[in-house]
Amino acid sequence: MLQNIKITKTVKSKINSLDFENIPLGTSFTDHMFICDYENGEWTNPRIEPLELIPTHPAAMALHYGQAIFEGMKATLDTNKAPMLFRPEKNAKRLNFSAHRMGMPNFPEDLFIEALKQLVAIEQNWIPPQDGSALYLRPFMYADEAFIGMRAATHYKFIIMASPSGPFFTKRIKLYAETNYIRAAKGGTGEAKAAGNYAAAIRPSELAKNKGYDQVLWLDAREFKYIQEAGTMNIFFKINGEFITPSLDGSILSGITRMSVIELLRDKGYKVTERKITLDEIIEASNKNLLEEAFGTGTAVGIALIEEIGNDTIRILMPKDNPIGNWVNNTLNEIKSGKIDDKFNWMTKTEKV
Ligand SMILES: Cc1ncc(COP(=O)(O)O)c(C=O)c1O
Repeated sequence: MLQNIKITKTVKSKINSLDFENIPLGTSFTDHMFICDYENGEWTNPRIEPLELIPTHPAAMALHYGQAIFEGMKATLDTNKAPMLFRPEKNAKRLNFSAHRMGMPNFPEDLFIEALKQLVAIEQNWIPPQDGSALYLRPFMYADEAFIGMRAATHYKFIIMASPSGPFFTKRIKLYAETNYIRAAKGGTGEAKAAGNYAAAIRPSELAKNKGYDQVLWLDAREFKYIQEAGTMNIFFKINGEFITPSLDGSILSGITRMSVIELLRDKGYKVTERKITLDEIIEASNKNLLEEAFGTGTAVGIALIEEIGNDTIRILMPKDNPIGNWVNNTLNEIKSGKIDDKFNWMTKTEKV
């Protein structure tokens, strides 16, 4: 049975301090958060309360052993200014997939969705109205039991925060094909949205930026031959009329944008193949002028068009025009803003209060 969410509203909203024309990236947070505790084997006390600091014991296990997972999703406004969520049931399932891999408890999917709906209803004035902008939602779970020792924690917190994000006008990006560091290996945690995956990616990302690239192109952990992901995005190539994206082999995050783009492209009549794809194949397709487009997909940016893949020994330049990448980006934005029919039933309305 769904537990009642106790709501305590802030006495003073911070919304007037936000410049909606110029939203800073990742630094502004809405007035409230959803929070729920795990103890004695169950989730208790689900509540929405003013967002504030949380006292943490220095031995909180997440800080030492890394039991920490998260999700990323967006709320947008439809043409009547009613808030909507994009495929939240997929995030609920992925959170539990990550929790399972990290030895953490399942979070009830119906409570996950209800918490999102109620938080978004309370914070709806924080949803930026411009096309391509959204209220970014960050559900996460971490071990807050104070214990020194290597085992699954018995106390956790599950929290949802919200942060307004402006429209992304990303320039085409350059990817550094990394042949020294890896993001994930089969049997590891790459398929989970575990905080540690991101920690391990920070140094390689910084090094790639120092070399003039925007993000890392991650290759497989055994041979540095097969393409996995682009930064924190999944990746698509269009070669000789066909779209190809790396298959989910246990080391790749199953992106919700990725699955949506596959559906959109197939619906439009394109052939989309999920399979292993080597960097050499991309080089060969480029040399034969068969490489037509490449883009990354993810909640934060939507679609990021790719300009170049390179490293100290290779350089692949993509064609300048990206008709399909742009079409996919616009179509996703139009579905998320209710401008076109949601024929795939992806949007979940939340209450307008
Ligand atoms: C490593 C990684 N790959 C891919 C994605 C794209 O996933 P989604 O489309 O669900 O945002 C993300 C972002 O969540 C990510 O962190």
